[in-house]
Amino acid sequence: MTPRKIIIDTDPGQDDAVAILLALASPELEVLGITCVAGNVPLPLTSRNARVVCELAGRAAVPVFAGCERPLSRDLVTAEYVHGKSGLDGIELPEPTMPLQPVHAVDFIIETLRGLPEGAVTLCALGPLTNIATAFRRAPEIVPRVAEIVLMGGGCFEGGNTTPAAEFNIYVDPEAADIVFRSGVPLVVMPLDVTHQVLTTRARIEGLRALGTPVGHAVASWTDFFERFDMAKYGSDGAPLHDPCVIAYLLAPGLFKGRHINVEIETLSPLTRGMTVADWWRVTPRAPNAMFMREVDAAGFFALLTGRIGRL
Ligand code: BDR
Ligand code: CA
Repeated sequence: MTPRKIIIDTDPGQDDAVAILLALASPELEVLGITCVAGNVPLPLTSRNARVVCELAGRAAVPVFAGCERPLSRDLVTAEYVHGKSGLDGIELPEPTMPLQPVHAVDFIIETLRGLPEGAVTLCALGPLTNIATAFRRAPEIVPRVAEIVLMGGGCFEGGNTTPAAEFNIYVDPEAADIVFRSGVPLVVMPLDVTHQVLTTRARIEGLRALGTPVGHAVASWTDFFERFDMAKYGSDGAPLHDPCVIAYLLAPGLFKGRHINVEIETLSPLTRGMTVADWWRVTPRAPNAMFMREVDAAGFFALLTGRIGRL
C-alpha cells in the first residue's frame, strides 16, 4: 500500500495535537510536513506546540514550518480560554529541541504541490485557513494540483461555538475560508455537527489512559484539561474532540455520513461573520462545493483513535 501524502495545517491546540498523533501513528498516511498557523494561540506557540507533539511521538524528523501570524485582513482572535495559556495546557512536556524549518509554511505548501504529481497531496486543515488561502492567492497554479482538502470548520444545525453563527476556525479568518471554499478543490468538511458527537466521555478517556504509555497519558491529560470548559458550556459528558475527525476520515471514511452541498462563507455581516451558509436542503441552484458531514460513528471513531494512539 502506498501511503497517502498529506500536509497538516494546524494551530495546536490539544485537539490538533491528538489529530497529529493519530496521523503519525498511521502507516496509511505519509506526513510530508506540518504547517503552523496562528489560531488557538499565537504563531510562536502553535509552531512550538507542533514540535512538542512530534517529539512526544518520537518523530523529530517530521518537518515543521511556521506560517502566517495573523488572518488575511483582520486582527487575530485566539482561544486561550479553551486551550490554556500555552495552547497545550494539561501536562508539562519538555521544550522541543527539533528545529523549525527555515522556510515559510506557505512556501513549503506551494513548493510541495509544484514538485509532486497533480493529485498527489491532500491538505488537512485543522485551524484558520490563512496559510492555505495565502498559498492559493500567491500561486494559483497549485490549486488544481491539490487532491482534496479535508478540514475542520463551520457548523449548520449546531450553530457556532464562537458566536451564535460561527465556528472558531472560520470565524478567525473568514476571508481565507472564502478563498478556500470558492477554490474548486474538492472539500470534505467536518463541522460542529459532527465534532459535537465525538465526546471525550470518562470511559473513553480512561481507555486512552489505560494504554499505560506516555502518549496515552498525555492525550488523557490534555482532554481532562480542555473538557472542563466545554462541559460547563454544553452540559455534556465530555468535550468534542474536533480536529482528529479530519484524520479519522482519511483512515476510515465510512465512519462519517454527509451530503455534497453548496457551502459559502459570510464575510460581510458583523452579526454572522464566519458563518458557513450550508445549503443542506438544496434550496438554491448554487453548485455543490463541499462534502459536508453530519453524522459520525463515535464508538468506531474512539476505537480507531485508541488503537492507533496505543501504537506510539
Ligand atoms: C476548532 O477550534 C479550535 O479551538 C480547535 O482546535 C478546532 O480546530 C473547533 O472550533
Ligand atoms: Ca485546531
